[in-house]
Amino acid sequence: MIQVAVMGHGVVGSGVTEILLKHSEEIAKKVQEEIYIKKVLDLREFPDSPIADRFTKNFDDIINDDEIKIVVEVMGGLNPAYDFVKKCLENGKSVVTSNKELVAAKGAELLKIAEQNNINFLFEASVGGGIPIIRPLNQCLAANDVYEIDGILNGTTNYILAKMIKESTSFEDALARAQQKGYAERNPAADIEGHDACRKICILASLVFGKHVYPDSVHTEGITKVSLTDVEYAAAWGGVVKLIGSVKLTDGKQEIIVAPMFVSDECQLSSVDGVFNAILVKGDSTGDVVFYGKGAGKLPTASAVVADVMDCVNHQTARRNIIWEDGNADNILPFEQTKYAMYVLANAENTEEALAAADGAFGKVEKLTRKNAEENELAFVTPVLTYADFEKAVEKFEQSGAKVVSNIRVAVI
Ligand code: HSE
Repeated sequence: MIQVAVMGHGVVGSGVTEILLKHSEEIAKKVQEEIYIKKVLDLREFPDSPIADRFTKNFDDIINDDEIKIVVEVMGGLNPAYDFVKKCLENGKSVVTSNKELVAAKGAELLKIAEQNNINFLFEASVGGGIPIIRPLNQCLAANDVYEIDGILNGTTNYILAKMIKESTSFEDALARAQQKGYAERNPAADIEGHDACRKICILASLVFGKHVYPDSVHTEGITKVSLTDVEYAAAWGGVVKLIGSVKLTDGKQEIIVAPMFVSDECQLSSVDGVFNAILVKGDSTGDVVFYGKGAGKLPTASAVVADVMDCVNHQTARRNIIWEDGNADNILPFEQTKYAMYVLANAENTEEALAAADGAFGKVEKLTRKNAEENELAFVTPVLTYADFEKAVEKFEQSGAKVVSNIRVAVI
């Protein structure tokens, strides 16, 4: 029998205990050992839980218990999760986490501590919820030179955008529904401002390129400024608006960004709806490989956590080899040098004159039209240009009297 502790009994944590209890026999058969939940750490009371007597409010009950060999951290947030996880690893306990904030901020350090102590630090559930992606990147695709990853990495924002696209639902109503369904973070700003997707692309980038990418070095935009008008113009252009996390190597540096983008209807990511996530990995030997599934929610995420616990049981002596070095901002291509074609929505008294001004400022643009457009509205897509040049062109364009009200990158995937 192997004894485990679960820190956190929220959406994911309760899913982890549920799966471990419900599937205990099958799991024991697969890992050839019974997995026993000895402690659950949470400050709240859960008198109706079938293991209510094993709850504790005191971390010391876990860290000081030498029989506990594996600790699951599903509390979320950096504090006190970082402190607790570090102490567990330093005390020779393997740790499994779904906490993307923790891995994105402290992954290199925690992986090193795990390596020094010959134990596991696993985090499959931190990216893509129930979708296998960390292990495939680290093992199945390991023989590839992976040169690009593009993904829909946040279920909440994808759910909101899909509701806006398909049902013209307001942003607020769609967010409330996502929260009710348990997809959103405790503070949904992390979802809608793009920080959650940023943490996930940082984890993937660190894993694939071997150097830690810190979230504050990544240009991140959320979906709060995306309007139903933008959504209509995306359709007129031949695509949809999606929140994309992307990383690729450009001139030896990582070009990494999180932003809403126009995604062509022909791209596989365009049809990813609702809470589903998809991650497109480009490898030199495999070509494109797409991972698709539920990116948030109690049981999908808990299933990935429990599978990591099982992997820890199977690798108690020969640890899983996951490691990346510390990184710094020099590894990242400055955001101003990233190149995209841009969709622009502008207001102008004379839209014909403004279109000519747009051609003069951005280079020949592609005009977009939609039904029931406002009289003073002009929408177009620019040629590909660096963000620095785009900003200069906007300044020049606005000298014509036009005013840019929205701009969104056109994805190249
Ligand atoms: N809030 C996250 C999402 C949960 O919506 O994708 C899973 O990480």
